[in-house]
Amino acid sequence: MKLFSNVKASASGFALVALISVSSGFLEATPAVAKAPAKIQPATLTSAAIAVPDRYSADAAGQIFNEGGNAVDAAVAIAFTLAVTYPDAGNIGGGGFMTLYVDGKPYFLDYRERAPLAATKNMYLDDKGNVVKDMSLIGYRAVGVPGTVEGMWEAQRRFGKLKWKQVLAPAIHYARDGFEVSQKLQERRDGAAKSFAGRTNFDTYFSNLKQGVNFKQPDLAAVLQRISDHGAKDFYSGKTADLIADAMRGHGLITKADLEQYKAVWREPVTADWNGYRVITAPPPSSGGVGLVQLLKMKADLAADFNGVPLNSAQYVHLIAEIEKRVFADRAQYLGDPDFYKVPVAQLIDDAYLAKRAAEVNPDTPSGTKSVQPGLGTSMPEKAETTHYSVIDKWGNAVSNTYTLNGPFGSGVVVDRAGIVLNDEMDDFSVKPGVANMFGVVGSDANAIEPQKRPLSSMDPTILTKDGKVALVIGTPGGSRIFTSIFQVITNIYDFDMPLPDAVAAMRFHHQLLPPDTIFWEPYKPIEGELATQIEAKGYKLEGQRFNGDIQVIKVNGNTPEAVADPRGRGVTRLFQ
Ligand code: DON
Repeated sequence: MKLFSNVKASASGFALVALISVSSGFLEATPAVAKAPAKIQPATLTSAAIAVPDRYSADAAGQIFNEGGNAVDAAVAIAFTLAVTYPDAGNIGGGGFMTLYVDGKPYFLDYRERAPLAATKNMYLDDKGNVVKDMSLIGYRAVGVPGTVEGMWEAQRRFGKLKWKQVLAPAIHYARDGFEVSQKLQERRDGAAKSFAGRTNFDTYFSNLKQGVNFKQPDLAAVLQRISDHGAKDFYSGKTADLIADAMRGHGLITKADLEQYKAVWREPVTADWNGYRVITAPPPSSGGVGLVQLLKMKADLAADFNGVPLNSAQYVHLIAEIEKRVFADRAQYLGDPDFYKVPVAQLIDDAYLAKRAAEVNPDTPSGTKSVQPGLGTSMPEKAETTHYSVIDKWGNAVSNTYTLNGPFGSGVVVDRAGIVLNDEMDDFSVKPGVANMFGVVGSDANAIEPQKRPLSSMDPTILTKDGKVALVIGTPGGSRIFTSIFQVITNIYDFDMPLPDAVAAMRFHHQLLPPDTIFWEPYKPIEGELATQIEAKGYKLEGQRFNGDIQVIKVNGNTPEAVADPRGRGVTRLFQ
């Protein structure tokens, strides 16, 4: 059983949009300047709420709300805290996406990593044109230019109410004074250490990440203190930038110029009307939002076929797999960084196009894999540790944030004298056409490596609104399983009227065109017995995977938020009156 299928034989061991404005960068503002006094707004909700991956980040959010912060302040404090207390995925050495709904308007912030200036299309191929095992996954050359610090700076600068140093304070505390390591975190550490197998300096920093230990990270505390004192510019052009460039010299591609030129980008989210809701979701360079909208709309188009089909029955699995086949065919062909390739987003989520695609679904038997081609008629795809959290404040502002190092503890490289774990996001590029990445998905030129390009993602922080008010804040890790997991939970809630905890706990499955006619199941709710027999009788192979998401979701019922953390993970929820 693998975590993800078709994984490159990786030692890492887990076979687990139009632009609104371009960020003017971190160099302009002075972090020490106090915000203008916030307008006193009446609360519209009975409480603020969070669904987050660990208890320390929950405490950090509580502190921020106590100090009068809003959802964006809390989200930024959570991100920095998780970089300390959830170092397998929380990060300042990675990147991600933030979907926001602030004062009744949607926003999307892309702080995804970029390829270094010296990156080349064939940088992971040997002289015979074969992919060099693990090179895009482990070690210095796997690292993309990190975006998290700049992303948090941008978000907080634009929408936060508190002073910058207030949102850094909890993270600095946990780095300097330590936090107690959980069993799950030790398990992640042990797994990662095995896969890095002494090929990186991972053990120098994390050999003592053992259950029950009060784990302190003094180098990281110093970095966070500098970021608190000087803003994002410390990371991109100051002392921390020097430490990153020094660590890379002679090993990897990232230079000071790469850091200085990094920009986060405010993009227009993908939006769609579905079932009386406005879906606000991730644009390229994520495939997640396009994929989610395609899934939701095609399922609605096929209402007659779904009529009377019980949730998660063999016929249900078949119909969803048929839809997923078409979504993943489009993903492989058309999706990439929109700053490098014109992604036909409007066409891909067009109602008439999706109705036509849905009409090609064979209700009886799996469509031949080869017969399912990208649907727009013109020619033109991701490893695994990510984390998601959802936040809403009492004024109804929401943040849905997914960020990642890609694999657990990323590339396994830790910046000397800084304690920053660096990502291995370069593996999300299509390193060679037709060669699957860690998640078993393939890609085309749209996702080929180019300097400063962002690798295609599946991360999909999503918000649903109704009548201009936030109804749902949702997201998950899981690589290419991300948007199929979100889709299934949304469907469980709204199409099957399931209570939120049940909707999240229900069995999930996954299909992605390749490998052909394969349905992935999860240990949490395995597909077995009679159901397995029925699905196989339809022509599918069943394959186990170790992981199928860690949903963190908030649903607003009337004016009362309800938060659920996936029972598959170590997340916690809280409400703050
Ligand atoms: O951006 C992406 O789609 C991947 N790098 C996400 C990795 C991930 O979700 C790992 N989680 N288990």
